Amino acid sequence: MKKLRVLALMRDDLMPPDSIDGLSSDELLVAPWKTEFDVVTTLNDLGHQVHQLGVYDDLPTIRKAIEELKPHIAFNLLEAFGGVSLYDQNIVGYLELKQVRYTGCNPKGLMIARDKALSKKLLAFHRIRVPDFAVFSVGRKIRKPKRLQFPLFVKSVVEDASFGISQASLVRDEAALTSRVLFVHQHTGTDAIAEEFIEGRELYVGVIGNKRLETFPVWEMVFDKKPEELPLIATAAAKWNLKYQKKWGVASRAAKGLPEHVSEQIGRRCKRIYRILSMSGYARLDFRLESSGRLYFLEANPNPALSFGEDFSESAEKKGLSYNQLIQRILNLGMRYQPIRLA
Ligand SMILES: Nc1ncnc2c1ncn2[C@@H]1O[C@H](COP(=O)(O)OP(=O)(O)O)[C@@H](O)[C@H]1O
Ligand SMILES: [Mg+2]
Repeated sequence: MKKLRVLALMRDDLMPPDSIDGLSSDELLVAPWKTEFDVVTTLNDLGHQVHQLGVYDDLPTIRKAIEELKPHIAFNLLEAFGGVSLYDQNIVGYLELKQVRYTGCNPKGLMIARDKALSKKLLAFHRIRVPDFAVFSVGRKIRKPKRLQFPLFVKSVVEDASFGISQASLVRDEAALTSRVLFVHQHTGTDAIAEEFIEGRELYVGVIGNKRLETFPVWEMVFDKKPEELPLIATAAAKWNLKYQKKWGVASRAAKGLPEHVSEQIGRRCKRIYRILSMSGYARLDFRLESSGRLYFLEANPNPALSFGEDFSESAEKKGLSYNQLIQRILNLGMRYQPIRLA
C-alpha cells in the first residue's frame, strides 16, 4: 500500500486536539470533533502523512496548503463553506479545478442529493418509488395540490441532520400544514417540502464505490421503548439528544427479520439510485419500508457521518470491513475517481 500525503479538510472549529488524555470515553463519544479525530488517527495509523487544515470561508488557505504540501489527495470532511451547507459542492468543485484528488462525492452528486425534490423527481422518472410531494417556496402562497393527501410530512427541501424536524413535522390538516411550512421557512430560511407520510420501518443502507458498487447490510433505526401512539420519526431529538434517546430506547442496528430476497432487492435498488443520482465515493441511503413490503426512498446522504461506531462504519464492519479498511477504501476510491479534467 502506497503511503500518501493526505490533506485532511475539516471545519476550523472541529480540529481535533492532539491528545485525548484525560477525556472519559463518554466525553469522547459526544465530542463534536469525533469524526475528525477518528479519521485523522486512522489515517496516521495506516501510515499516511496527514496534514490537517481547518477551513471556514478562506479559499486562499486551501490553495496555499495545496501548493506547499502537494497532497496526493484531500480527505474531505467539510460539510459547508462559510457556514453555508449548499457550498459543500463548490469545495470539491474547486479541488477539481486545482486537479487535486479528493475522497467522497463529486459536486454533481452532492448537488442532486441535497435537493430532496430534485432527487425524487429523477428517481420517479426511473420508476423508483418515492413519496409524492409538493414544494412550498419562501414567500409564495401555500396551496396544497389536491392529489396530495394527509397525513403529510413537512421539512426543509435542502437541510439535513433533521434540522427543523420534530413530531410537529407530521401534519394532518390544512392549518397544521400552513403553520409548519411557515415554521420551516422562518426557522431554516429555506423552501419547504411536504411529502406523503410513509408509515413503516426506518432503514438505512451504506453504499460505497465509484463505478463498481458495494452495499452494506441493511441498518434500522428503532425505538425500543416507543409507545404505540408515538409516530416513528428520526427527529433532531432522536438523532442528537441523549436523554430523548435513553427515554425511548432509540438505537440503530442490523435490520432484523428481512428475508434474504428482500435484502438483496434493497441492495440492488440502492445501486440503481446511487448511479441515477450521480454519486461517487460513499453514501448512506434512507428508506421507509411499509408493512405491505413497499419500499420508499426518502433521501440520499453523500459523505455520511464517518466516525467509528456510526451507522455507516458499523454496517461496513458487519460486512467484514474494519474501520481501518473502510478509511483506506475511501482513500483508494478518491485516488481512482476521474473527474472530467480540462484538457
Ligand atoms: N415522507 C416521510 N415519511 C415518513 N417519515 C419521514 C418522511 N420524510 C422524513 N421522515 C422522517 O424524518 C427523518 C428525517 O428526514 P430526512 O428526509 O431523512 O431528512 P434529514 O436530511 O434531516 O435526515 C427521516 O429519517 C424519517 O424518520
Ligand atoms: Mg435522513
